[in-house]
Amino acid sequence: MFTIHTSFMQEKETLVVGVFNNEKQSENYVKLNEHLEGTLDYYIENGELTGEYKRVEKILPLKGSGVKRIYFVGLGKSSALNKDRYRKAFGTLFKRMQQDRISEVSILLDSVSLPSLREEECASLIAESMGMATYQLAHFKTTKQKELPFFNRLSLITDTAPDSLLYALATGYALSKGVNTARHLIHSPANLLTSTAMGEFARELALMHDFSVEILEREDIERLGMGALLAVNQGSSEPPALIVIKYQGLEEWKDVTAFIGKGITYDTGGYSIKSKAGMPGMKGDMGGAAAVLGAMETIGRVKPECNILAVIPSTDNMISGEAFKPDDVITSMSGRTIEVLNTDAEGRLALADGITYAKKQKVDRIIDVATLTGGVVTALGSWMTGAMTNDQMLYEKVQKMAQLMGEPVWQLPYNEDYRSQVKKSDVADLNNSPTRKAHPIMAGAFIGEFAEDTPWVHLDIAGTSIAESAYELGPKGPTGVMVRTLAGFAMDS
Ligand code: BES
Ligand code: MN
Ligand code: ZN
Repeated sequence: MFTIHTSFMQEKETLVVGVFNNEKQSENYVKLNEHLEGTLDYYIENGELTGEYKRVEKILPLKGSGVKRIYFVGLGKSSALNKDRYRKAFGTLFKRMQQDRISEVSILLDSVSLPSLREEECASLIAESMGMATYQLAHFKTTKQKELPFFNRLSLITDTAPDSLLYALATGYALSKGVNTARHLIHSPANLLTSTAMGEFARELALMHDFSVEILEREDIERLGMGALLAVNQGSSEPPALIVIKYQGLEEWKDVTAFIGKGITYDTGGYSIKSKAGMPGMKGDMGGAAAVLGAMETIGRVKPECNILAVIPSTDNMISGEAFKPDDVITSMSGRTIEVLNTDAEGRLALADGITYAKKQKVDRIIDVATLTGGVVTALGSWMTGAMTNDQMLYEKVQKMAQLMGEPVWQLPYNEDYRSQVKKSDVADLNNSPTRKAHPIMAGAFIGEFAEDTPWVHLDIAGTSIAESAYELGPKGPTGVMVRTLAGFAMDS
């Protein structure tokens, strides 16, 4: 799939050249320009090749020139270029080439790298963008659809030693593979992706990457006393599942990070039922679980030196004569009792038991990911993920990684004023839905009660998990957000 070459003079099908805006071009650009007898400079002089950010141009060189077609990708001003802009430029390029039905490409690496973005970093970003941008969601249409090709050969043309570049390409590609796994899971309808099916998926993922895996079934969940997860499942004819994956990348099982993902395969709201407009799309309420599984896919490919415990409490949230109701009092795995005020605040209940389970396994830090509240969509829209924490140091680490990965997060406040709200109940230790006021924070504060003093970061992806329209790095629909932040966090530790 990936190769490194030192010369562009071989018969290359498709060549990619980066162009900066009004700047001195790379050595290989100069060589190629000479080889094509000044054609490239001629285009620049004519204003055809501007290097304008994200602008893609294609030329067909004359016969005998050694290349069949050249794509130019505009990288804008080098001083403004960062990882985020880089991915978007390449995502735009790869989408365009895919439309043109191209599946093999060679990139003049020095024309797209900078002193501030080394060739290795570029290689990784290029593979990541390629995998993410060209992904297509599956469908169940019986009429023939136009299928676009996937890239099956990417060569970098450079004098740099191949080993580190091949590793960088594989890492970037592994990130995109994780993202696409998450997208696939989120996209899958809930009649097919039940908790049991998600468990099976996790089992196969574990087999592929040599993780240890355990899928706890209803009896195990009952034995562990996970009354909060069970309450959410109570109205369903599908059994719940607690998916547990262990990745051990250190000699010893110590210094463990827990990834906890909300795995609600469908959220009707339960008896606090959603409106008929509010329900479609709720197959995606396992976006947190998908992010965790996607990150595990990347981790399985890259095998970083760290230990990860992935925990996914999974069920749908349904209605029947057996379903839980507002006013019910339930007992969580932690022993604390919860007054249910809203059955649509189900994610925090499932996560509470997931977190307690992780804590019993002795983890050193917890990151939970969940499509948790509509309120976070109102507050931050689809541009940033809402975050909360009880440990500012851990938060900063996550925040930095999220920024680098182009998955920005924004911290919401978490203090005693908010915490006291979830502890207000006449009949139980906690309540699951104090008030509509600040409800994304109430949800986080509820989860925080179960994290206790373990360093914890909460990521509410309700707004960022789905893209309303196609974007540079993917189609309309599930984004796979937080896969790269979680995987990056694991690879960085
Ligand atoms: N799964 C929803 C949150 C959600 C909303 C995700 C929109 C994606 C898009 C969650 O379980 C929920 O229903 N939250 C309620 C909380 C309320 C009952 C306090 C909400 O946001 O309205
Ligand atoms: Mn809900
Ligand atoms: Zn939900």
